[in-house]
Amino acid sequence: MVEFSECAKAMRGSEIRRLMKLGSDPSIISFSGGMPANSLFPIDVLDELYNNLTKESRQAALQYGPTNGYPPLLEALKEYLKNKGLPLEGQDLLITTGAQQAINLVAKVLVDPGELIITEYPSFIGALAAFKSYGANLAGVPLDNEGINLDQLEQVLTSRASQIKMLYLSPYFHNPAGIVYSPKRKNDLLGLLKGKNLVLLEDDPYGELYFNEADKKLTVPMKASGNETVPICYVGSFAKIFGPGLRLGWLLGPKDIVEKCEIAKQSADACSTTLSQVLAAEYLSKGKLGPYLDYLRPVYARRAGIMLDALEKHMPENVTWTKPRGGFYIWVTMPQDIDSSRVFEESIKRGAAFVIGSAFDPHGSRNNSFRLAFSHTPEERISEGIQIVAESVKKVIGQSINKSELSTALN
Ligand SMILES: Cc1ncc(COP(=O)(O)O)c(C=O)c1O
Repeated sequence: MVEFSECAKAMRGSEIRRLMKLGSDPSIISFSGGMPANSLFPIDVLDELYNNLTKESRQAALQYGPTNGYPPLLEALKEYLKNKGLPLEGQDLLITTGAQQAINLVAKVLVDPGELIITEYPSFIGALAAFKSYGANLAGVPLDNEGINLDQLEQVLTSRASQIKMLYLSPYFHNPAGIVYSPKRKNDLLGLLKGKNLVLLEDDPYGELYFNEADKKLTVPMKASGNETVPICYVGSFAKIFGPGLRLGWLLGPKDIVEKCEIAKQSADACSTTLSQVLAAEYLSKGKLGPYLDYLRPVYARRAGIMLDALEKHMPENVTWTKPRGGFYIWVTMPQDIDSSRVFEESIKRGAAFVIGSAFDPHGSRNNSFRLAFSHTPEERISEGIQIVAESVKKVIGQSINKSELSTALN
C-alpha cells in the first residue's frame, strides 16, 4: 500500500465533480456546474483574434513565457484594473492558471498547518479544498443578504485571534449564495478588520455580471476603496467573462505576497498557458470584453428571472431562496431538518440535478440548503427543471413530517 503524505491525506475529491458527473447525463436538466453554457462562448471573437495574430505573436503563443505573465497581457490587464479603480502602485500583478491557482498560491505562501482561515458559510468549494490541502483549520461565518455577519465575525476574530491567518470572501454575486455585499457591510467590515493581523483574500470572478447597470456600483472591490485596513489580495478570472477553458486568472496584491506567489508558481507550472494569454491580451486590448459583457448580462438576467418565477410558483412555503442581482447562482434553504442529499436523490430520479449544501460548508456538515446554477441551462428547460426540484423538496419535507407525526404518536 502506498503511504500518502499528510497533505494528500487531507485532500478530498470534490463533491461538485462527483455530482456533476451524475448530472452530465443529457436527459437530466442540470443546475449543477458553475459554468457558462457552451452556446454562450464568444467563438467568433476567438476566431477573429486568432486569425489576426501576427507571426511573432503566434510564435510567442507556443513558447514558454515569464512566470508572472505574458507582458502584453499584464499591460492590458493593468489598464482594465486601473479603470475598475484598483490601485497598482505598491502592488504586483501575477497572471495565474485560473483564479483557483491564485487562491491556492496565496494559501500556500501564507498558511501553515493548524492555522485558521475564516471563510463565509456557505463558501466556494474550490477555495475550501485548497485551504484544507495545506492543513488549515477553517471557521465558517454565516452570510445574510448583505454579506458576512459582522457580529459573528468579530467573535471569531476575538476568540481565536492568535491562530487567524486569512479571511477569504467572495463578495460580488457570491458562489454559491448569489448575494452581493452592501456598501455599508463592506465599509463596516473594513473598519472591523483595522489593525487585525490577517490578510483579506477578495475573490471576484463574477463582479462584471450584474444584471442592471444601476448595480454596477455594488461591485466596486474593497481593494479599490482606498481604505486598505489590512493587506488585500484581490483575485479575478477570465473564466466567466471569456471562457474557463483558457484557465486564466490573476492576483493583485502587496508586492511581498505576490513575489512569493510567483516563486511558488515557478515550481507549480512555470507559467500559465501562453496561447491563452496571447488571446486574452488581444481580447482586452482590441476592446472585445465590453461588447461580450453587454451580450451576456441580459442573458443571465433572463435566466435568473425564469428560475425565480418558477421557484415562486412551485416551491412550498417553508422554503426560502436568495434573489441574485448578478452572477450565476441561487441558494435555496429548506427547514433545518431537511437533508438536501435526499432531495438530490429524489430529484435525479425525476430528471433534475443541483449541488447539495454540505459541499459549501467549511465543516461539511450543514445540509439543509442547495445551490442552483442558472448559467448553463437552456432557458426553455429551466421551469421544468425547477418544478422537478420543487416536487422532490415537497416529497422529502412530506416524508419528514410523516416521520415526526409517527414518532409523536408512538411517544
Ligand atoms: C468564487 C470562485 N472563485 C474562483 C473560481 C475559480 O475560477 P477559475 O476557473 O478562474 O479557476 C470560481 C469558479 O467557479 C469561483 O466560483
